[in-house]
Amino acid sequence: MKRVLSYLLLSVFAASASAQEIDPTAESRELMGDDNPAFFWETRGEALWKEARGPKKANLSQCDLGLGKGVVAGAYAKLPRFFADTAKVQDLESRVLTCAETLQGITPAEMLKVRFGNGDDQRSEMEAITAYLVSTSKGAAMQVSMKHPKEKAAYALGEQIFHYRSGTHDFSCATCHAESGKRIRLQALPNLTAKADAQKAYVTWPAYRISQGELRTMEWRLNDCFRQQRFPDLQYGSEAAVALTMFLAKNADGGVLEAPTMKR
Ligand code: HEC
Repeated sequence: MKRVLSYLLLSVFAASASAQEIDPTAESRELMGDDNPAFFWETRGEALWKEARGPKKANLSQCDLGLGKGVVAGAYAKLPRFFADTAKVQDLESRVLTCAETLQGITPAEMLKVRFGNGDDQRSEMEAITAYLVSTSKGAAMQVSMKHPKEKAAYALGEQIFHYRSGTHDFSCATCHAESGKRIRLQALPNLTAKADAQKAYVTWPAYRISQGELRTMEWRLNDCFRQQRFPDLQYGSEAAVALTMFLAKNADGGVLEAPTMKR
């Protein structure tokens, strides 16, 4: 706890130190080295993955994340992708929902009761499982397939959503994320249409958010940007969420996965 407090203080200090500083947590992250609280989500997720649960009293170890049943390491680097058994393009989170339902008999509604956690008060199983699975792909380069027509269609839909302007402010994702060097207050806005920025953004999620004391996944990130865009909630695991993820993931091809990382 004392340590968490000191990161918070450090980040507040760094944020007020200079208007030029666009990564206010860089200093605290440097001080912490490899010490990332995301580790707690990873270990909880691994335990959940291996525990026999649900009406079928089965674990998730036979889940096929795209590299074959039971293969976890490296799978995230090739997601989203087309899965023949569901005849859909799926991202990591929607695939986990499929596996929990088919292997364990746990419905998506049950899995998503707590979509987004709130520190110790409210823990999300999806966040923990996602953190674990992503951590096993650390060091792997993103390599997203565009072979299947549905993969191409998902990318095209994601690109369309990215540029779709609507809502009270007539914003699209592109309003904030299609030019280099933009920022809102101290937050740098990555240009998600440029390779280097897209890679850097994608390979660093999920992340432990220092300001929230919580691990956040890509589904959370996108949902929060829907909020910033004054759009209605993005439906978790929906075709739109997967398509946007596909657009971002493909733009990040070749980027080496670092997640779960630590962010402000
Ligand atoms: C009103 C401006 C705004 C709009 C519109 C917006 N975002 Fe964001 N986005 C932000 C801000 C600000 C951040 C950084 C937040 C932070 O650091 O806490 C961010 C961060 C991100 C990140 C993480 C970047 C990183 O390096 O960690 C991704 C990915 C992202 N947005 C995707 C999207 C997508 C996809 C859309 C459209 C659905 C979108 N954003 C719409 C403002 C916006």
